[in-house]
Amino acid sequence: MKQLIICHRKRIVGLLVMAAIISMKFLSMTPSKTAVEGAAMGKSHEKEKVLQTEKKRQEIGPLVKNEPYMNRWHRRFSSSAARGNLGGYVFFKHIRKAGGTSLRKYISNVFEHHGLSHNISDFEQMVPNQANIDISYVEQEFEPLDWQCSAVDPRWQESLNIIVLRHPIERHMSEFFFSGVTLPTKKKVFGSNRRVIQKDQLFFNKTYTTTLARFLNEEVPYWMERSKMEGIGKYKKGAMFSRWYQDNFQLRALAGCSSGRCLEKRLSEKGLSEQGNVTEILLKSIHDLHPLNHSYVTPNAMCTQFFRKNNLVFDVCSGKKRDVQCSGGCDGPCAYPTTAEGPLDKNDVRRAIKSLKAFDAILLMEKLKDQDESAFLNDVMGVPRDASFALNSMRGMNARVVKSNRREVTHYYRDLLAKLNLQSLLLRLEEENKLEIEFFNRAVDLHNQQMQVWKEETGWGRG
Ligand SMILES: *[C@@H]1O[C@H](CO)[C@@H](O)[C@H](O)[C@H]1NC(C)=O
Ligand SMILES: *[C@@H]1O[C@H](CO)[C@@H](O)[C@H](O)[C@H]1NC(C)=O
Ligand SMILES: *[C@@H]1O[C@H](CO)[C@@H](O)[C@H](O)[C@H]1NC(C)=O
Ligand SMILES: *[C@@H]1O[C@H](CO)[C@@H](O)[C@H](O)[C@H]1NC(C)=O
Repeated sequence: MKQLIICHRKRIVGLLVMAAIISMKFLSMTPSKTAVEGAAMGKSHEKEKVLQTEKKRQEIGPLVKNEPYMNRWHRRFSSSAARGNLGGYVFFKHIRKAGGTSLRKYISNVFEHHGLSHNISDFEQMVPNQANIDISYVEQEFEPLDWQCSAVDPRWQESLNIIVLRHPIERHMSEFFFSGVTLPTKKKVFGSNRRVIQKDQLFFNKTYTTTLARFLNEEVPYWMERSKMEGIGKYKKGAMFSRWYQDNFQLRALAGCSSGRCLEKRLSEKGLSEQGNVTEILLKSIHDLHPLNHSYVTPNAMCTQFFRKNNLVFDVCSGKKRDVQCSGGCDGPCAYPTTAEGPLDKNDVRRAIKSLKAFDAILLMEKLKDQDESAFLNDVMGVPRDASFALNSMRGMNARVVKSNRREVTHYYRDLLAKLNLQSLLLRLEEENKLEIEFFNRAVDLHNQQMQVWKEETGWGRG
């Protein structure tokens, strides 16, 4: 089993950086009227709480940008006119099964709110290298992020950067139920029901419950060992993250290496060096396309466009229009090759945290519908807190298994495994993703710190 996983890791990925990109003209810049900018910094907090927060801050270090959260959108993009309307990106690091589709929909609405929208038919008329591009939407889902991207890629500084994380075990199990169980299997084991988890049967119907337990006990380990090798879906070739199990997913997603000791270590690892030529090709592309060796100042309009389609955004580079000629793949912050394969250690946790700190908004899927997280994001994006498309009023989120209380939102799959007497499976998942869990716990601290700073800045919750 371990053997299979190691052998599997030999596949070199990271060559194709599948960033998906929108670019839209920036037409309006009306600041949000609900801005509570400059709200008094209240000092009425309980001492204890302040002390604890301060202690946490010292432990995890400060967030990178010492910049107000309110209206970061306008602050970031208002400088574009001075640069000949050339740039500006909304960069969304899309972690699979962590609210990505909801965020994509939300961001599409934010663009619409700011008067930025292209519809799909505009694509046909696109002129390559059109000069008046203003704000582009860049989404990176299938490839790891270079942990040093924020420091070496000049595009990062012109970008509003968003990420949503989720508890590792919940996220892995969600991917399992999403892509790890085929419809024929579901039918064979559970009859004609499309859903494997039926809340009206679970723990009420003994036959159903024991069938589910047996099913998970066999299928989840198989999925962990084999799914990437047997990878399904259009990103099978080259992509690191797709419809399969990838251990320490979120840690790898933020701890890509593209230079220095980090890269040397990855390349020296047995799995990679055995690839011979492939390593050389990978290394050459990592060197050649690294931001210190390659100029990314002029975006290629054909490769930075996103279009509105059915209230979502249509992604030119990884969607139907793959035939579009974009030699470097999609074009946006962090869209260059990096590698995150092989064994991980505590240094990778440190790197991933460093990379996370450079984001403008670090969101948690568990809290996407909370009043404060929703208001926070709207503030950052420069839209009214009560916008009809705000995350706290979004419907259909997390609909695979409808969660009926707070505990279910945060612990559904872990509780399910425990209640089905599958503790050893749960332990195996926890063991294999130990570093990802460590990373996530620190990310939660960082999220809390960010929310606290925003609350102090805006006077949230102080009546
Ligand atoms: C898209 O744009 C085309 C041409 O600009 C227009 O005719 C069409 O109505 C638009 N479609 C939608 C759905 O807005
Ligand atoms: C209990 O579950 C089994 C297996 O899914 C199913 O065949 C059976 O119809 C269920 N019984 C009831 C009363 O729903
Ligand atoms: C690398 O590729 C070339 C041509 O494809 C081949 O001749 C050579 O043997 C390969 N070298 C290694 C070490 O695999
Ligand atoms: C830039 O390219 C050179 C030549 O390929 C290489 O030696 C160097 O490591 C590259 N720099 C980075 C940061 O990748």
